[in-house]
Amino acid sequence: MSKTIFPISLFEQEETPFYYYDLNLLKNTIEAIRKASDYPGFMVHYALKANTNPELLKIIASSGLGADTVSKGEIKTALAAGFAADKIVFAGVGKTDAEIKLAIESGIGCLNVESFPELNAIREIAAGLGRTAKVAIRVNPEIDAHTHHYITTGLAENKFGTLACDLEPMLRTIHESKELEFVGFHFHIGSQITTPEPFRILCERINKMQEELGDLEIPVINVGGGLGIDYDDPDKNPIPDFKSYFGTFARYLKLRPGQELHFELGRAVVAQCGSLISRVVYVKEGHVKRFVILDAGMTDLIRPALYQAYHRIDNLTSDSCKRETYDVVGPICESSDTFGENIPLPLTKRGDLIAIRSAGAYGEVMASSYNCRPLPRAISR
Ligand code: LLP
Repeated sequence: MSKTIFPISLFEQEETPFYYYDLNLLKNTIEAIRKASDYPGFMVHYALKANTNPELLKIIASSGLGADTVSKGEIKTALAAGFAADKIVFAGVGKTDAEIKLAIESGIGCLNVESFPELNAIREIAAGLGRTAKVAIRVNPEIDAHTHHYITTGLAENKFGTLACDLEPMLRTIHESKELEFVGFHFHIGSQITTPEPFRILCERINKMQEELGDLEIPVINVGGGLGIDYDDPDKNPIPDFKSYFGTFARYLKLRPGQELHFELGRAVVAQCGSLISRVVYVKEGHVKRFVILDAGMTDLIRPALYQAYHRIDNLTSDSCKRETYDVVGPICESSDTFGENIPLPLTKRGDLIAIRSAGAYGEVMASSYNCRPLPRAISR
């Protein structure tokens, strides 16, 4: 099936490896988000960390989504792509003074504050600039998202956010400082979450917290991102189930009248529209394994090496009906430079084009030039 969705004749003329982005799928995904999030007060931000390819950003910014950023570079990238400053939020456990200054001077919508020392730094910098900084406190809700431990963020052992029991002095500081304006609370429990359960538990935690905080005015609740995608079968599920995702929050989160609910989705917006396209350099018959060696490696897509992540692998050009089992590997001098083990593929030969699927999120942005390799190019259509 995947053969029909790729412009293979275009690929055949291109030097590999490169990322290929299907812009129609991106547009359809954004449209699905728009429809499914059409509840009063709901506002979706795109987490730039997932992909900052300019072609994609142009489409996402012009669709009216806000932006979730985590560095000076991302704030500048978001502004340059056309995201409205007041729809940009800024998170991160280690915001530097220069980053805080840029955020305040650009008039971004909110700094998501992760600790008391950071709050004090923001207050001092805002005072120095004679400006007011809009702040939300990132709360660590102590929820296990049941995802890979490298991408779980909402547990007490993680470095992110402040535990609910430590909020009081931060809220008091905000209340007493004319340089700080309280926007609300921010949460994010992890990434690639594929069941509604952790999100439902998050809603319940937030409800309880709102009750306990009594009459504190909380204009915005931000529940972060984390919605997972179908890496196993991207052809069957090219667009994530946004209806169920936003429906969970609409059903379980007790928003107060006039309160806004913000989301920060990264992976769910861009993962399925991107594939890493590569050529087979050699097929090598080992004694216990048969290897397909690609011209793409972990420097182009690090997810399998770093998180043992599964990405579907398709041979786009083999016509063979015979199937063989291969280990699909890259050319880098590391054994972890493996895209998949025991992958069934049609008979594969030198020169075949291979697509590594669902690579639109945390792919191109995490590329490196290890081994003096050039960063991967990107083609969008
Ligand atoms: N908001 C915050 C505060 C985050 O830390 C993240 C992701 C997001 C939003 C967006 O999460 P998403 O909707 O994309 O799940 N490189 C890893 C994923 C790291 C996610 C980090 N934080 C991977 O390739 O799986």
